Amino acid sequence: MTMIKTKDQIARMREACTIAAKVLAELKQLVRPGTTTQDLDEAGRDLMAACGARSADYGYQIGSRRYPAHTCISVNEEIVHGVPSFRRVLHDGDIVSLDVTVTYNGYVGDNATTVPVGAIDARKKKLMRVTEESLALGIRQAVVGNRIGDISYAIQNHVESHGFSVVRDLVGHGVGASMHEPPEIPNFGRRGAGPLIKPGMTLAIEPMVNLGGYRTKTLADGWTVVTADGLPSAHYEHTVLTTENGPEILTRTDLLKS
Ligand code: MF3
Ligand code: CO
Ligand code: CO
Repeated sequence: MTMIKTKDQIARMREACTIAAKVLAELKQLVRPGTTTQDLDEAGRDLMAACGARSADYGYQIGSRRYPAHTCISVNEEIVHGVPSFRRVLHDGDIVSLDVTVTYNGYVGDNATTVPVGAIDARKKKLMRVTEESLALGIRQAVVGNRIGDISYAIQNHVESHGFSVVRDLVGHGVGASMHEPPEIPNFGRRGAGPLIKPGMTLAIEPMVNLGGYRTKTLADGWTVVTADGLPSAHYEHTVLTTENGPEILTRTDLLKS
């Protein structure tokens, strides 16, 4: 399968990504102490429906398991794929990663952010800042003529220079009619390695950064990936289009009318 999208596919990717960004931005506003992750999931489901989109997560199959919710909501030591639950109440001082992936008109938009709940401590603040910066630095390398490893290296280098670690068990990915397409985009690697970046690729770049070690575990629910050492983790993600004029972030809301 080619990793290059046609003009028509890119137009559809733009729409799906705009919706994914809008839903994520609105979901973010609902994060506060006392809310459950299930409340957020239901709001996410309704926001997607209001845009005529649906969750790409719901029923997503890995092996014999199907994902049971509409969003991924990962609190503190949960890295990604946190399964929303009415039992999980958000508390002051938590950090929560929201990952929204929608399907609209046959194409997928994927984006995530990490937000504070109330007042958080300085090390969580720094973890979030460095992770978001690493995403920006990775995106900056999504340039025609570079290789995927240039993105990976930029992310890893920034994260490790601040004493944090990048998760190795999960990677970013191409995105299109399916949520996960080639190429894989690791958050670690070497400059000049991996597939060549050409115009018309749509890439989900998503650093997952741990305050402590990079090792992970998966909980008994079969989905929720947590840090092995129990220390917090942050996650930011954009879907990016590669063009002759540089990377274009498709999952952004600043072009929307309010
Ligand atoms: N949105 C996630 C990603 O960034 C994938 C979620 S798959 C699910 O790749 F099944 F866990 F929802
Ligand atoms: Co995602
Ligand atoms: Co993704």
